[in-house]
Amino acid sequence: MTHKPNIYSPEIWNDPHPFYASLRREAPISQIEPSGMWAVTRYEDVLYVLKNPQLFSSEGFRPAVQPAWLQQRNPVADSLLMMDPPAHTRLRALITRTFSASGVARLEPYIRESAQSIVDDMLARRRVDFMESMALVLPSRAISALLGLDPSLAPRFKTWADAVTGVGIVPAEDMKRRAELTGYLDELKHHLTSVLELRQREPGNDVVTDLLQARAQGGSMSDDELLGYCVLLLVAGLETTYDLLGLCALTLTDNPDIWARLKKDRTLVPKFVEEVLRFHSPSQSTIRTTTQEAELGGVRLPKGATVLVQFVSASRDESVYPNAHHFDMERTGAPSLAFGQGIHFCVGAPLARLEARLALEALLEKCDRMVREPGPVTWNVAITTRGPAVLPLELIPA
Ligand code: HEM
Repeated sequence: MTHKPNIYSPEIWNDPHPFYASLRREAPISQIEPSGMWAVTRYEDVLYVLKNPQLFSSEGFRPAVQPAWLQQRNPVADSLLMMDPPAHTRLRALITRTFSASGVARLEPYIRESAQSIVDDMLARRRVDFMESMALVLPSRAISALLGLDPSLAPRFKTWADAVTGVGIVPAEDMKRRAELTGYLDELKHHLTSVLELRQREPGNDVVTDLLQARAQGGSMSDDELLGYCVLLLVAGLETTYDLLGLCALTLTDNPDIWARLKKDRTLVPKFVEEVLRFHSPSQSTIRTTTQEAELGGVRLPKGATVLVQFVSASRDESVYPNAHHFDMERTGAPSLAFGQGIHFCVGAPLARLEARLALEALLEKCDRMVREPGPVTWNVAITTRGPAVLPLELIPA
């Protein structure tokens, strides 16, 4: 392919599936813009990249969040997401237990109560932006409870998270936005550093305290790694779950038959959430770099090639999912790659699933239906995540 399409252009970003279907058919490993990255689009190739970290290093993610123009450290660049073993293994071991299914189950009563009060509040207002009222607030409360942060800062968390992930795609000519993002990164670092100092003096029942204690007990972790960890959890815990909740609501408003089925049988909610994850891939992609010349799907990639691993495409691979472009809650077969695979498999998957289930259960219990303002969806543009930017709805009480 001589012309390299830009995946962030509105023609592709607003409806990416026809584009990726053509790549899977005609050029499953091919260079795209920005930066001439190699897009990996077939399920089998995506899995191969994720399962071979010695060939496809996560260090490749770093330049996407630490562009040359940014004159300060983006803290997420020092997080385990962008590391390979053994550093990755050392850091990941510190939180595996907290984020296990049983670890997050302790948050269930709090998240359920939060979801119910958010729906009550939305019903009282009746016409709301779902993204602002639910998709932002519920994950912010959950991640605040986990990290020991002040949940009333939710709008600030989103601004900070957008800055962490936004620096990599801000256009070169947009100096104003660059200055803004730099300021937000400063604020975020300042805030989390003060939280770390507070927890050092006054330990709490939260992940920040767990990390500080692990370090005190000899778990080696630099100051930058500690800050990077907290930032990663805040950003990863917020951005993707925000999108997932928005995509669930969008699917329900646009498919009243699915809403009716879930209303009749709530046990279908987890299956619905899994299919939304596959169908829409809130986390569209991840990034790797080749540690040596490598062959992938019959294409030779040079050493140091940046590889864009496209979950959004693998999740619609027709050779893996029968009737791949059809939304089908009864699907069995290949697991979706929405949370990744291999050593970087999403730590927060049980938490994200729990939040989505409890939000939907509260909506189904308290609402007769949700009606979306007619018109096309405006999609947010972020480096690896995609969901509705706003979702104006009317909630009709049950
Ligand atoms: C719908 C919600 C979510 C989706 C779709 C999602 C998706 C992903 C994916 C695809 C990866 C792997 C990236 C890679 O291989 O490079 C990942 C990693 C990660 N996620 Fe999530 N995530 C979600 C929610 C969460 C939540 C709620 C948290 C925590 C509060 C979280 C924390 C993490 C962390 C810490 C990693 C890095 C793991 C590692 O590098 O070993 N995620 N996530």
